Amino acid sequence: MDGNGRWASERNLARTEGHAAGEQALVDTVDAALELEISWLTVYAFSTENWRRPIAEVRYLMNFNEQLLLRRRDELNDKGVRIKFVGRRDWRIPRRLLRRIEESEVLTEQNSRLTLSIAFNYGSRAELVDAVKALNADAVEPTESAISARMYDPSMPDVDLWVRTSGEHRVSNFLLWQSAYAEFVFVNAYWPDFGRKEMYEAVEEFQRRNRRFGGL
Ligand code: IPE
Ligand code: MG
Repeated sequence: MDGNGRWASERNLARTEGHAAGEQALVDTVDAALELEISWLTVYAFSTENWRRPIAEVRYLMNFNEQLLLRRRDELNDKGVRIKFVGRRDWRIPRRLLRRIEESEVLTEQNSRLTLSIAFNYGSRAELVDAVKALNADAVEPTESAISARMYDPSMPDVDLWVRTSGEHRVSNFLLWQSAYAEFVFVNAYWPDFGRKEMYEAVEEFQRRNRRFGGL
């Protein structure tokens, strides 16, 4: 969900206003996913590298994510959305936010229309390091399925459609393992300007692709 800061700067607003404006984009994207009967949506909310940002922005984001869960989890639950988090749940995440994360997962765990997977304190390389450690601890041969089974959420399917907003053409440490055969779509809109229409367009673009998975 990229481009919040630039969206705000272009309007002479504080960067944090851009994050706040991104909330509606997330709600609209989830609604589009529900309409399109997409079963799994993973959004990149905070990376293991985002800790490098100024402390005030990091603090804002921690508080914002906590409040967003409080504000939105009941309506997401009513819509049949299952909320899950992927990432390192370490000491850097405020305990209050960790509690909201756990509560939101428990509240929605019976839902099956759409899984909204939120990558938070997530880095794909960190995930792979953690998986390799788990392999070693289990003394298991490193096969593809053994590695997949040790990702943060082993039930997460491989990525079909991978969308990056804000005109950047980077992967930025997101779902490297799971995106081996993902179709990439890059859109110029900043995240706060992304929504239902943009989501439909991305899916239409995906439907025009000819996927071969290395075959013919
Ligand atoms: C994405 O918007 C949100 C987070 C990474 C939390 P940015 O904050 O990256 O916005 P830009 O890229 O600076 O415009
Ligand atoms: Mg960015």
